[in-house]
Amino acid sequence: MTGKNNPIGLFDSGVGGLTVAHAISAILPDEQLLYYGDTAHLPYGDKSKETIVRYSKGIADFLLENSCKVILIACNSASANAFTEVKEHVGDRAVVLNVLDPVIDYVARQSDAKNIGVIGTKATIESNSYHDGILKLNPNLSVSSLATPLFVPMIEEGFVFDDISNAIIRAYLSGQELSDIDTLILGCTHYPIIRNQISRFFNFEVNVLDTARIVAEYLQGYLRDHNMLAQERAGENRFYVSDHTTSFGTIANMFFNEKINLQKRSVW
Ligand code: DGL
Repeated sequence: MTGKNNPIGLFDSGVGGLTVAHAISAILPDEQLLYYGDTAHLPYGDKSKETIVRYSKGIADFLLENSCKVILIACNSASANAFTEVKEHVGDRAVVLNVLDPVIDYVARQSDAKNIGVIGTKATIESNSYHDGILKLNPNLSVSSLATPLFVPMIEEGFVFDDISNAIIRAYLSGQELSDIDTLILGCTHYPIIRNQISRFFNFEVNVLDTARIVAEYLQGYLRDHNMLAQERAGENRFYVSDHTTSFGTIANMFFNEKINLQKRSVW
């Protein structure tokens, strides 16, 4: 059994999940976060399901060793391909949550949403998880999906507010697939970093969902409903990566929006 003040563990292939970690720390400041970025294996978006499952289970073990009460898979590619396997692997040792279900629930309940667009990595889009999940809850919606695989390397390389990122955003989003949407799901935890540019591309006429905030609010509700909210902050947030590159620290600080101290730790 883990206690209420035990940390919330999150993981992603890299820095993307820090957008979720940041949204969580903004509304749940008493929760201690333990973040693992699998930078040695980035990107997950073009890996097979089998590989994503293997990496994810290894990280789940690391988070369990650190007594996390919740393991939040803060990566859409891993949520779409490894959630069931990680949940089964973890059993009753911790609660396992993903970043897809909160967004699917949210969208299916929006009365003004009709034509939903989803963008994400190939691993997420090809799993059809958003498409099938949304239509299961609300068959009256239409869902168009598009893989935008260049966004992750573009963001990881720091091209986020310039001509290069604007050109890539335009090249992907001006296709037929997203021409009629009223709502857009950023189905990758890296993408909130370019949310403003995407909104601007659509002349602010499309509701580009703040997926990191939706996930954080879902987690808050879950902890409250299950009487698992921390009573006091047990310690500093901790951040681990499987490999350390020179640019990574700078990008990580940009994603989390405050100074963080990264430690290298291999978990396999
Ligand atoms: N941040 C990950 C996601 O949400 C994707 C990055 C990757 O391809 O590794 O899907």
